[in-house]
Amino acid sequence: MKKQTPKTIAEGIERLQPWFHNIDLAGQPTDPQNPDHPRTRWDAISADLPADMQGKTVLDLGCASGYFALELAARGAHVLAVDWEERAVAQVQFAAEVLELEIECRLQNIYAFVLANDQVFDYVLFMGVFYHLRHPLLVTDQLARMTREAMFFQTVLSNHEDTVDPELPDNFSDRGLLATPGFPALYFLERRFGGILNNWFVSNESAVRAILRSSGFHDPRKRGEDCFVCLPNHAALTSDHPAWDLQAIRRLVD
Ligand SMILES: C[S@@+](CC[C@H](N)C(=O)[O-])C[C@H]1O[C@@H](n2cnc3c(N)ncnc32)[C@H](O)[C@@H]1O
Repeated sequence: MKKQTPKTIAEGIERLQPWFHNIDLAGQPTDPQNPDHPRTRWDAISADLPADMQGKTVLDLGCASGYFALELAARGAHVLAVDWEERAVAQVQFAAEVLELEIECRLQNIYAFVLANDQVFDYVLFMGVFYHLRHPLLVTDQLARMTREAMFFQTVLSNHEDTVDPELPDNFSDRGLLATPGFPALYFLERRFGGILNNWFVSNESAVRAILRSSGFHDPRKRGEDCFVCLPNHAALTSDHPAWDLQAIRRLVD
């Protein structure tokens, strides 16, 4: 591991701009314009993770600059950080080198990762990625199988209304219920939302809860404004209905 100096740290921060996360690299911030990003989200979830993570495995899927991966490696976890952006992976590697932490980094598309992988991790972070995916349930379904202790989830929420878990009528033509405030709703955004091409979905909280339950998690616990702690409900994964047959999709990819 290369020994970094204040000069090489400043050069590295500059060379790898822009940073998605503000990380303190030995007193030098990577993104001083956004000093609290994503610290406020980390503060919302950090107490749900053990203080000592020696011997624990973590998957940080869509890790960006690696703020969460670095915090967890600092607690002693073995962290696998995955992202498809070369700059993101280079940022994680550089930050880990400066902070003298070990992080395993992988430059890979999330779909390729989850469809080709059966590894189970003690903790999974799936923060800020759901709404970037056109096929997000493929990933949440597989992550329920890959999570031993808990998955940490964050997405863009439409509102903060009360949540509804409705009794659904048998009559398929009875759609009036859909207008109930807080009814699970996933809004699809065809064109650029917030100036970003791949912001595909905004969900209300009922939909987040329903999707995570149906993927194979217990009803999640909300943390902060938009984060959720999701404990796997492996008993719910026994459904043999073909609608849940991920293996069939994986065979198509093989
Ligand atoms: C909004 S950032 C969230 C970063 C971090 N998890 C957080 O919560 O702050 C989304 C990250 O997911 C990555 N990403 C989006 N789609 C991906 C895909 N299909 N495969 C791999 N990475 C992806 C992006 O490159 C980006 O780094």
